This record gives sequence, structure tokens and C-alpha cells, in this order.
Amino acid sequence: MKNSVQKNNSIEEIYSKYSPTLLKELHILTRDGKLNQDSRRKLKQIDHLIQFIHPLIQDVLSSKGQLNLVDFGSGKSYLGFLLNDLICQHQLLPYKIIGIDIRHDLVTYCQDLAKRLSFPQMEFLHLDVSQAVNSNSLPTSVDVITALHACDTATDDAIFFALSKKTKHIVLVPCCQAEVASLLNKRKSLDLKKNSLTEIWRHPLHTREFGSHLTNVLRCLQLEAQGYDVVVTELVGWEHSMKNELIIASKSNNISKKNIAKNKLFSLISELGIEEICQRFMMPEATT
Ligand SMILES: C[S@@+](CC[C@H](N)C(=O)[O-])C[C@H]1O[C@@H](n2cnc3c(N)ncnc32)[C@H](O)[C@@H]1O
Repeated sequence: MKNSVQKNNSIEEIYSKYSPTLLKELHILTRDGKLNQDSRRKLKQIDHLIQFIHPLIQDVLSSKGQLNLVDFGSGKSYLGFLLNDLICQHQLLPYKIIGIDIRHDLVTYCQDLAKRLSFPQMEFLHLDVSQAVNSNSLPTSVDVITALHACDTATDDAIFFALSKKTKHIVLVPCCQAEVASLLNKRKSLDLKKNSLTEIWRHPLHTREFGSHLTNVLRCLQLEAQGYDVVVTELVGWEHSMKNELIIASKSNNISKKNIAKNKLFSLISELGIEEICQRFMMPEATT
């Protein structure tokens, strides 16, 4: 799996790749064409992510001749609009970029913007990520899913959706997730006497950080157990965001790797005594 991208483009080089009209609409450029200081970080981060997503989109378009991409917790959909601007609208094959978000105001904002910019291939739905798998508004076949800082368990719901739809490529930049940390916390007094490794999460701040790290480890094992090759890398440097872990999973179906990952997933959960979390990392019944 390709995961090397250029990291050091200057901000001027980055913004020159995109349409100035779009950058103004997204308030990344001011009305008089200057770069909005507050948006520099966002543009750099999303441009970096787009470099990882580009080959995945090309892979789907060349193998399938069309593309459905769903962005979970799309917010103002910087990612969707910039992807559309840089990659999708310059090729002739049919595609759809669909953003879903629980916030009605953001969905309306994005719908209006897509209409104003004449992007009929972009759709925005007011939908809770946890309900996406049962929604008739989404296509039955989804090739790429993205979830960029989708809050708390929304990342897990996006994974559940992708596994149900047998989505080929999954791109995640997880946000904070409190579920695992709260289970570690619950068992803390029991566990601390047992094993010096439990020192890793004794202090509350460490419980939170280790819980978050462990959640991502479990997500990777879950994806590998379902036949995905997984790459974990950095989205951008720490100076830009505290949540910069990028997980890219692509379907490969290597049976022996699947079984190893499944066993590791269950042993890890059991060794940490957090069996209550098991359901979260189970395989959904595929719906396509
Ligand atoms: C931190 S913002 C990230 C927005 C965008 N992905 C980005 O990186 O610019 C998280 C977004 O996820 C949305 N969100 C959180 N939980 C959600 C859920 N359960 N279903 C749908 N959207 C959700 C929020 O409304 C918010 O717009």
C-alpha cells in the first residue's frame, strides 16, 4: 500500500493547486485573495490527507469506472469540496461525494454551497453516522469512506458502515474516544495491584491517552481481522493538530492475516479485562 507523500510543500504551493473561487467560498482565501491565517492549518492538513486519498480514488475509478465516496461527520466539508476540486471533477467517469453530518445547519450550508458552485455530484445528508448503515439515502455500494475527526464513537460507526458495505478503502483520522478509557478506569483499582504494566494508565491523563491509543489499536486489529491491509501514519506534524493519527485500510482478504488479527484482537481485549467492548469490534453482517 502506498503511503509516502510529499510533506513539505509551502502553503503558497498548496493553495495554488485549488480554485481561488472555491477557496474564497470556504473562507480559506479572503475576498481580496489573501490567505486567511486561521485557515492555513486546515488547508495544510486536508491537502496532506488528499495526497493519501488520491491514489485510492484512482484505484477505484480505474478498476470500477465509477466512484461513491462517503465522508462521515463532514462538518463544513472542506475535505469533500477540495477533493472534488482537485481530483474528481477533472475526470470523465461518474462519481459521487456524499457528506453526512448530524448538524442540520452545516448540512444546509454545504448543500447551498454545492448548488452555488454547480457541483451536482456532491450531496449532503442530515444523518447520524450510527444510522447510516440503515439509510436508504446512501448508495448500496460505497467504495471509499473517510472520517476526519468525527467525534467520539462516530469513527467506529463509520467503520461498521464500511465493513457492512464491503467498502474497498477506509480513511480515518480518529478524534477522542472515551469508551475504552472509561472501561480501563472502572477496573483500575483491581488491575493496579496485579501487574506493573498497568502503570501505563494509572494517572487520569494517562488513562485517557492510553484509552485513546488502545482504541485505535483495536480498530486496526478489527480492520485486519476483516481482511484489510492497514497503514498507520501521521497526518501532519504535532504543531498542527493533537489528533493526527491517520489510519488507511484497503481490502486485501489475506486469510491467514485475518485469523492472526482476530486472535490478537480477542486476546488483547481479554488480557486487559475490557470484554464489555467486544461488541464494538465485532463484524457486522455485510449488506452488499
Ligand atoms: C470536529 S468536526 C470535523 C468536521 C470535518 N470532518 C473536518 O475535519 O473539518 C466533527 C463533525 O462530526 C459531526 N458529528 C459528530 N458526531 C456525529 C454523528 N454521530 N453523526 C454525524 N455527524 C457527527 C459534528 O457535527 C461535526 O461536524
